[in-house]
Amino acid sequence: MKISFAEPILPREGILVVGVYFGKTFTPQTEEVNTLMGGGLQRAIDASLFKGKKEESLTILAPHGLEMSQVLVIGLGRPSELSALALEEIGGRITAALSNSRDKDAYVYMSQIDAMNINSEQAIAYVASGALLRSWRFDEYQTKKKKEEKQNLKSLTFACEDIKNAKEAFDPLAKIAEGVFITREVVSQPPNVVYPESLAKIAQELSSVGVKVEVLGEEAMQKLGMNALLGVGQGSIRESQLVVLQWNGGSKDQAPIAVVGKGVTFDTGGISIKPAGNMDEMKYDMAGSGVVLGLMKSLALRKANVNVVGIMGLTENMPSGSAQRPGDIVMSMSGQTIEILNTDAEGRLVLGDALWYTQDRFKPQLMIDLATLTGAITVALGSEYAGLFSNNDALSKKLTKSSEMTGEKLWRFPLGKAYDRDIDSDVADMKNIGSGRGAGSITAAQFLQRFVNDVPWAHLDIAGVAWEKKDRPLMAKGATAFGVRLLNHFLQQNYEG
Ligand code: BES
Ligand code: MN
Ligand code: ZN
Repeated sequence: MKISFAEPILPREGILVVGVYFGKTFTPQTEEVNTLMGGGLQRAIDASLFKGKKEESLTILAPHGLEMSQVLVIGLGRPSELSALALEEIGGRITAALSNSRDKDAYVYMSQIDAMNINSEQAIAYVASGALLRSWRFDEYQTKKKKEEKQNLKSLTFACEDIKNAKEAFDPLAKIAEGVFITREVVSQPPNVVYPESLAKIAQELSSVGVKVEVLGEEAMQKLGMNALLGVGQGSIRESQLVVLQWNGGSKDQAPIAVVGKGVTFDTGGISIKPAGNMDEMKYDMAGSGVVLGLMKSLALRKANVNVVGIMGLTENMPSGSAQRPGDIVMSMSGQTIEILNTDAEGRLVLGDALWYTQDRFKPQLMIDLATLTGAITVALGSEYAGLFSNNDALSKKLTKSSEMTGEKLWRFPLGKAYDRDIDSDVADMKNIGSGRGAGSITAAQFLQRFVNDVPWAHLDIAGVAWEKKDRPLMAKGATAFGVRLLNHFLQQNYEG
């Protein structure tokens, strides 16, 4: 969808969007439109249940006194509650409300918004950002649907007093959205299209925006001793890949921040095979790596003033004659041995080697991993929060703050010795599942912690939030890209100085 900014002059056709605060309070622009309509806007609102709450909207077709096809009235809520996120969600609701309308263009006429500590240009940029985020769709395989049916609304124009200012405020938000979109794209693609080598190829395209990209194949990983990761992929005909992305926008003496993603492009469970029902969902088991990809893209587009390493551990977990067996023991790159008791607990094997490699090679100031790691996290948190696990309180606080600001919410879980003991093995240094005494998400995190070598680290278990079954203000159902906006915010606030 095309987003543009223009002077506040009413166009003669298309759709008009105006805002109303809670309590039916009009913005100056809404006031003006109501006057042009001879008070018809006020009458329409009074004839409805619309109060101006932020989840409300009202459509007035063929408005009297205007040449436009419709006026969409969007509830803005209370000015005191208009945060950046609330403004983005208003934008998302505009796109959602217009997605099935006849017209291709809409004009958003709210150049003066009363928001807390946010000027009108910045506010309108946030609304535009939310509208853009919500516009993304995945429909390339729907060959029978007519093009016009797929998406009617083609452009949104936002009225603003100071176009230059609004554009400047919108620019970085649009670049973050680009990152979100590539993440949603690769996570949505089916597993016959996105597999380790094809995803590594997509990552290679980031070199065109200034990201340094390296791809390690199985031979290179064997030399490094990454047998935990390689063991997961040994049943697949697809070759496992480790993608190393570097964005060096910061000063030379700044140690990088590392972001590591689980990238199981399909998780059948392997020999410990999953039940057939909903197994298709395991195409999004690479969402962690998808977020790394999207984050690195937005950092490069924004020319972010920070050094970040992105690692994607890519493999496919398949059952076959060459697949790993329950009972196998592998030696990880760290030198620690792992007894594989369940081949479906594969994410931690991938990340164990990826995390060790990352700290060993890059000496990062901190590491954050994202992984659709456990079904148990969904039992605990549903799809509202991702699980946060960390060996560092300051890092957890920063991440939690960014999670509140972006709406990509995190809830911290405990770690500790007692949980750690649960993955001790009788025959190797550790086993890849706990003893079945519950706390499955925590024992998985304890496993990862054995590979971080005391580097400040946070693990985000995104199994419950990477894929949405219902629409949300900033996204239609499907791949969410949870983590891209969160980590952009985290880096912007704390490290880009
Ligand atoms: N990829 C799954 C976790 C998952 C479940 C992601 C649902 C998204 C939605 C992971 O590899 C897995 O299979 N975990 C097992 C671990 C168990 C065998 C200890 C699980 O959660 O059942
Ligand atoms: Mn699994
Ligand atoms: Zn998995």
